[in-house]
Amino acid sequence: MINKINTLGGYFHEYQKSTLDPESFWAQQAEFFFWRKRWQHVVQWEFKTPSIRWFDGGKLNITENIFEKNLYTHGDQTAIFWEPNDPNDAPRQYTYQELFHAVNQMANSLKREGISKGDTVIIYMPMVPELTIALLACARIGAIHSVVFAGFSAQALADRITNAEARLVLTADQGYRGNKVTPLKTVVDEALSQCQGVERVVVYQRAYVDVSMTPGRDVFWQEFISNASDDCVATEMDSEDPLFILYTSGSTGQPKGIVHSSGGYMVYSAYTFRNVFQYNNGDVYFCTADIGWITGHTYLVYGPLLNGAKIVMYEGVPTWPDAGRMWDIIAKYQVNQFYTAPTIIRSLLSMGNEYLLDKDLDSLKVIGTVGEPINEDAWHWVHDHVGQSQCPVVDTWWQTETGGVMISPIAGVTPTKPSFATLPLPGIQPVIIDNDGVEQTGNSVEGNLCIRYPWPGMARTIWRDHERFRQTYFANYENVYFAGDGVRRDEDGYYRILGRVDDVINVSGHRLGTAEIENAINEHPLVNESAVVGCPHAIKGQGIYAFVVCPQTSTGGEEGVKLSIKQGVNKRIGPIAKPDYIQIVSNLPKTRSGKIMRRILRKIAEGDASSLGDTSTLLDEQVIDEIIQGALVEV
Ligand code: WT7
Repeated sequence: MINKINTLGGYFHEYQKSTLDPESFWAQQAEFFFWRKRWQHVVQWEFKTPSIRWFDGGKLNITENIFEKNLYTHGDQTAIFWEPNDPNDAPRQYTYQELFHAVNQMANSLKREGISKGDTVIIYMPMVPELTIALLACARIGAIHSVVFAGFSAQALADRITNAEARLVLTADQGYRGNKVTPLKTVVDEALSQCQGVERVVVYQRAYVDVSMTPGRDVFWQEFISNASDDCVATEMDSEDPLFILYTSGSTGQPKGIVHSSGGYMVYSAYTFRNVFQYNNGDVYFCTADIGWITGHTYLVYGPLLNGAKIVMYEGVPTWPDAGRMWDIIAKYQVNQFYTAPTIIRSLLSMGNEYLLDKDLDSLKVIGTVGEPINEDAWHWVHDHVGQSQCPVVDTWWQTETGGVMISPIAGVTPTKPSFATLPLPGIQPVIIDNDGVEQTGNSVEGNLCIRYPWPGMARTIWRDHERFRQTYFANYENVYFAGDGVRRDEDGYYRILGRVDDVINVSGHRLGTAEIENAINEHPLVNESAVVGCPHAIKGQGIYAFVVCPQTSTGGEEGVKLSIKQGVNKRIGPIAKPDYIQIVSNLPKTRSGKIMRRILRKIAEGDASSLGDTSTLLDEQVIDEIIQGALVEV
């Protein structure tokens, strides 16, 4: 069993050990796993190139640590409680033993197809158990999985298939989320008409609806796995072999394929899961994230399953059939740890407390949040009404790139403070650096959040673009990892995340690059150029505000253009990227050198035109007045 911290003193002790001698600290954590061959070096690193290697020389397979290592003790225990979208449909369950067989069967089928170690597989599926099986089957044979969230558009999917060089796509006929049906197979067909290289599409039948099947390329899941043995020896992986690629948005247009390792990620995901949530054997753990995001990878699949946890996997959305669904699920499965996002909390809060009436929430011990800063109202509501003032609320800060939680309370151990991620986990050394590169030491300071020393779960590269990896995270400040967030360390040494300092916005806990949205808008034939910024949004945290230069609006008038811009973004990226506000302007505020002054647009979108700061470098100051006059929010 992984070491669990139980007291605040214990935390400080572990933290100190981890900074004084990180190598022994992490070696000790790694001892709890099954290695086919032990590592030779705990860590070798430099942040210039950068090159980061954990447990080098070690051989392992992460699925052996989920299954073989634990089957004797909990083979018959539930691994997955699957709750369908429609509460009247039948739930499904898998024990560890059953999951093991299903994973092996799929692994053998992939092998039979010619997929082997180092090949990439794109997974575009709804939240059904087969999605988890797909990830683990890839991991079993050393294929690199790349899950694309099933809300992304055909174009976005095609971009990722091309970038990942995938030969095989796993998908489903349809997905159900609330009262919406997503025609996943149709989206895949459209994506494949725009990219090359995919030879096989495996279609899980969730709905048993008619879908078009391309002969020679498409096959149904049942047929694909038929006659495959459920016994499959795991492929031996080097610690540093990639486990998966997950795409995320950056400040430039093209999404980044973040690459995670086999050995380090295993140790980090399992260690942080056990500690942050204080998971005890037998507890039931429910994470609302979709596996299409990193939270689903680390804290629905790998972290919990490595700990032999019982997980609840939910297919649908939190507000359907009504805003009491989360509480029904918690009561039904007697959930002990509940991990969700501030945006979900805010949306449930806004629907009123009556949905909590008569719900049995007594099983809850820990509530966790992730994805964006949690405002005090949401924190207090979830703490008082959902946790009935009995459960610690852990506000966990981390990123796709960090692989697992970095700064967070340890449930029940670290005293919490609303809207603070509190203290770094053992092994994590945050530093605050100002824009001139000067480290801000001591307390009551603010600046850019960076991390000084590597940790096992950190990303190793961007798929096929190591130079971008270096530039994005290691070039701004020397010898540290730059997270892209602003942070304040208060008088108690507690960390409060202030939000992104780059051109990335966070909409309902989902990260979007403003450049990515601008590119999509600019594809509209009537649009000359555009600038996208974030704006405050009561439920989503941030909304999307687009300033668009569009001299002619053709027959549909302004409203017609706005509608077709929204449709265009929906098609290019997906519904999550649709702007909340589109303001048509005659020009964008630019410096004499032609750079858009986003700082000013951000202020206007925030409704704060009184403090625009220095505008003297602007080419044409008048344009600002026009934009303020036409603003779609109160300024
Ligand atoms: C960005 C990373 C990590 C899984 C979900 C998002 C923001 C994340 C918090 C938090 C304030 C947070 C940051 C970060 N963020 N957690 N507890 N408090 N902000 O992963 O899509 O990679 O986004 O989400 O801005 O950089 P992601």
